[in-house]
Amino acid sequence: MVGTPKPSLTLILAASVPHLGIGLNGSLPWRLSRELKYFKQVTTARYPPLSGTVPSSSSSSSSSSSSNPASTQLDQNVVIMGRRTWDSLPPKMQPLPGRINVVLTSAADALREKHAHKPGAVFVSSLAEALEFVDGPWAQATEGKSHTRQVFVIGGAQVYAAALRSPRATRVLLTEVVRDDGTENVEKNHQANGGAIECDTFLGPEEGFAWYPHGEQGSSGFWRRESESELRLALPVDQVELPSGDEEYPELVENGFRYRFTLWTRRT
Ligand SMILES: NC(=O)c1ccc[n+]([C@@H]2O[C@H](COP(=O)([O-])OP(=O)(O)OC[C@H]3O[C@@H](n4cnc5c(N)ncnc54)[C@H](OP(=O)(O)O)[C@@H]3O)[C@@H](O)[C@H]2O)c1
Repeated sequence: MVGTPKPSLTLILAASVPHLGIGLNGSLPWRLSRELKYFKQVTTARYPPLSGTVPSSSSSSSSSSSSNPASTQLDQNVVIMGRRTWDSLPPKMQPLPGRINVVLTSAADALREKHAHKPGAVFVSSLAEALEFVDGPWAQATEGKSHTRQVFVIGGAQVYAAALRSPRATRVLLTEVVRDDGTENVEKNHQANGGAIECDTFLGPEEGFAWYPHGEQGSSGFWRRESESELRLALPVDQVELPSGDEEYPELVENGFRYRFTLWTRRT
């Protein structure tokens, strides 16, 4: 249908600042229970109509032959991930419940066969094929519903990079993480210890996304940091618990780390 908006992509990631480290030894470099809760709430929440779309002048793609989730699940949000991130999930969390899991891999046929008994997982061989699924069967199933269409890119670094190259990626929900060394806040802390968290997987600056401190008129390639009030507008706060406090983007402290939930949007 000409002019039908296509779902946009929201990246959601927790990263050390300033260097944007996201992984260590195939897993996360930290254990942050409030962060996991936030991730679950954001990715399973129901969103108001017409949020999270980008205009389109082309028709919807045809159904992807690679997808076969149970039709009852088509009204759930989509989470797109790489095969290594899928592998990092505990078997009982494959797929992540309450969400349609779209997994990018060069071995889509083999994984589809291996996980044929698990409804809710879709294996595709490229981001384009993931978007075909999103624009085809999934968008059709959610059309006209009172809630919409949220498509989250949940990592890892390879898939974040592929998504950042797509103009359909319009938002980044970035959890900024530093080691808690007793300094006052994320800003002072990242200067004091350089965000010294051991990581072996990073979000590379080549895709145009780089962190800069709050309060600076910095530039992050094509991305702009939004205020906390914008984050609160972007999320259904009746379903997503955000920390409260006097300062902008209040911080949480857990397991020797200090972190906060922030929103970045693509500059137009
Ligand atoms: N901090 C966070 O928020 C966060 C979030 C997610 C993950 N992580 C961490 O990130 C690390 C994993 O990241 P990663 O970059 O190594 O791996 P990844 O992006 O999760 O997965 C990479 C794999 O995905 C497939 N793939 C990636 N791009 C593709 C494309 N364009 N087309 C087709 N297939 C594609 C390939 O699978 P095949 O090899 O099967 O072909 C590739 O080997 C882990 O440490 C994980 O814990 C952190």
